[in-house]
Parts: sequence; C-alpha cells; structure tokens
Amino acid sequence: MNDVRHYATIDELRLAARRRVPRMFYEYADAGSWTESTYRANSDDFARLQFRQRVAVDFSRRNLATTMVGERVTMPVALAPTGIAGMQHADGEMLAARAAARFGVPFTLSTVSICSIEDVAAHSGRPFWFQLYMMKDRGFIADLIARAKAAHCSALVLTLDLQIQGQRHKDRRNGLSAPPRLTLRNLAHLARYPRWCARMLGTPRRTFGNIVGHAPGVTGIASMADWAARQFDPTLTWRDIDWVRERWGGKLVLKGILDEEDARIARDVGADAVIVSNHGGRQLDGAPSTISMMPSIADVLHGDLELHMDGGIRSGQDVLKALACGAHAVHVGRAFLYGLGAEGEAGVTRCLEILRDELDMTMALAGVTDVRDVDGAVLRAGGFMKARAAAGDGAAPMRMQVAQFEL
Ligand SMILES: Cc1cc2nc3c(=O)[nH]c(=O)nc-3n(C[C@H](O)[C@H](O)[C@H](O)COP(=O)(O)O)c2cc1C
Repeated sequence: MNDVRHYATIDELRLAARRRVPRMFYEYADAGSWTESTYRANSDDFARLQFRQRVAVDFSRRNLATTMVGERVTMPVALAPTGIAGMQHADGEMLAARAAARFGVPFTLSTVSICSIEDVAAHSGRPFWFQLYMMKDRGFIADLIARAKAAHCSALVLTLDLQIQGQRHKDRRNGLSAPPRLTLRNLAHLARYPRWCARMLGTPRRTFGNIVGHAPGVTGIASMADWAARQFDPTLTWRDIDWVRERWGGKLVLKGILDEEDARIARDVGADAVIVSNHGGRQLDGAPSTISMMPSIADVLHGDLELHMDGGIRSGQDVLKALACGAHAVHVGRAFLYGLGAEGEAGVTRCLEILRDELDMTMALAGVTDVRDVDGAVLRAGGFMKARAAAGDGAAPMRMQVAQFEL
C-alpha cells in the first residue's frame, strides 16, 4: 500500500482526487442539485456549532467503540452507499469495502454500484450492508434482496428520497455515463488521467454490476439520469416497506428521512434505524441541512430506535457534533470517495484514520472519554443552542437543548 500518512485532512484527499479522477466522475461526487444551497448548508451548519472546552478531566482512557444496529464497530461511522464508486477508482466498491472491514466499520453497497454484490462479498471479508432503491420491476427487486441475503449482508438500507433524480447541472453538462461514452471529446479528456485509464482497462468491472445482466432487458447503461427516470418507481409509499421487510427478514434501515412526521412514521412501520439524510444535498435543493434537523427529530423519536445521520461530515469534529445533536452514529459519503479517488483502498483507510483521530482528540479536549456518553453538553449554548443559555446551566438536559435548535 502507498504511504498516505502525509494527508492530514479530508480536504487534502479531496484535492488529490480532483487531480486524479476524470472530471465527469469527480464532479458527480462533488456536486449537489440545482443551486447546491442544501449541499453547502450541510457543511456550513456544522461550522456554526461550537464545542465547550473542558479542562482537568482525566481522559487518559478513551473509547470510540460502540454498536450500530447491533454490530460492533470501532467508531460510530459507516461508509454511505454511493453510486458508481467503481468509477472514482477501478474496483472502487471492493476496495472501499475491504478498507472498512479492516477498520471495523460498516460499508454500504449501493444498488447502482459498479462492482456487484457478489464481487464485494468475495473481497471484503466482513458482512457489509446493502442499499436498495425501489424499482418498478418487483421481480428484479425481490431477486436483489435474495442476492443480498445470499451474500450475508447484515443490514438492508432502503433509500426513500430518490424515486426521481434531482437535477445536477454538472452531470448534465458532463454527459455523465458509466462507462464514459467514447466520443473524441471524452477520449481527449480521459487521456489526461493515464493512471485512472490503465486501472480501468485492467478490470472487467465497468458498468452497473448489480443490474446489467440481471434486470430483464438491461444490457448496458448510457445516461444515469435517463435510466433512473425509466426504472425508479414513483409509486413507492410507506405500504411498500412491509413488502421489503417480509422478503428481507433482517435489520432494516430507512434512509432519507428529513422531517419529524416522516421519522414518526418510519418508527411506526418498524424500522431498526433511520438515517436523517438529504442525499448529501443532491435531491431537494432548498431543504434544510441534516444537522439542523437532528435535534427535533431526536426529540420526536425519544430513543425508540437508532437515529443515524449523514450529510456534510468532513472531519471527526463533525462526527462529534452530530452525536451531540442526537445521532447514535453517522455515515460518510464524499469523505471516503475522495480518499478512494486519491489513493484507492489506502485512501479510504486514511479517510477513516483521519476521522478517528480527529474524533478522539476532540473528545479529549471537550472532556469526554467515551463516545457512548456524548450528548448535547459538549456543545456551547448560542446560535441554535439557546436553551442552555436561557436555563443558565452548562449541563442542561439534552432534550431541553435540542428542542430549541434554531437555524
Ligand atoms: C457520488 C454520490 C453517489 C451517491 N449514491 C447514492 C446511492 O446510490 N444510494 C444512496 O442511498 N445514496 C447515495 N448517495 C448519498 C449518500 O449515501 C449520502 O447520503 C451522502 O453522500 C451524505 O453526504 P456527504 O457526501 O456529504 O457525506 C450518494 C452520494 C454521493 C456523493
């Protein structure tokens, strides 16, 4: 493996990925929908939260390990499902899954991955999670669920916020397709990334591994957006969750919850966990950031099921802030994709190391020794943490603080 210790931050991995991954795929990752206001808000709202600096606390023994839907993890961070990760780097999903397995955190394979469920199962060495998109062909979906079970996937993540694809201007301009269409313009562009091209030519995995050859009539895929428009089922409702659960029978995680009312329904339909998510700002532009919705959703759920979140996490400090706002665990998308594009498997491992070390050190400086004990008391009042100031009490109960979260 390459020595990747010189990368000190996730942003350094991003800059390296920007140099090494063809623009069509780099911009597929590093973009949001329409004006990208929600995409930006996801990160900006983290920056508005401040920690309380605490001193003279014995932090010589610290613990980051916990569980996620019953699985032991070395820190409460999973790799989020991301489509066509195998275009950021050849065999990308297999490499990221292996990095996550070695690190001891969950990897989630997207329905629209390049490497198939079976490819990843053969290479990861630890059960991974499978993310499902509901498509019109229920026979195909039943078959996908059966394949995920046969591969011993340990959780099914059903994504609810992409039954129609939000418009991403950069993808339209770039003519995104996997593999890229071999036009003269594309060939000239790809020639600037010889290492990427050489690796891609060295693998047979260059199109949608879970779909091509499995969904009847799908032999190759041109444009992601056209394909999504044809296949994704716009009739999906809460009633379909039962259909999925009956076929799956294992841990079920509902992803794409961003509203208190939907969180309540997700609990009532029997999810094991929900992921507060706006798809990384790639769907409904103008929706709130995920971190700003955490306190009120945590309040509604009362700890009845595991509350996870994703969106905008670029540091271990962001992980701690998410936990402080009520998350049991978080998922990262772009952070690991940057590592993958920059350095393959070693880059994903480096991403996880950076997040772990930043989380660990920030916990120490904030006077917390066990990740399982983190609550709103690690954050300062002010901004949207007004309640504690009003109460005049540095250790006001979490519920009271989160009810006053205002952005
Ligand atoms: C390039 C890219 C592809 C994605 N593809 C999927 C997908 O196939 N399925 C899904 O449920 N979410 C997908 N997402 C959303 C992520 O799972 C996650 O919600 C989001 O990336 C979190 O925000 P972050 O990237 O700021 O960490 C994708 C995100 C990105 C950036």
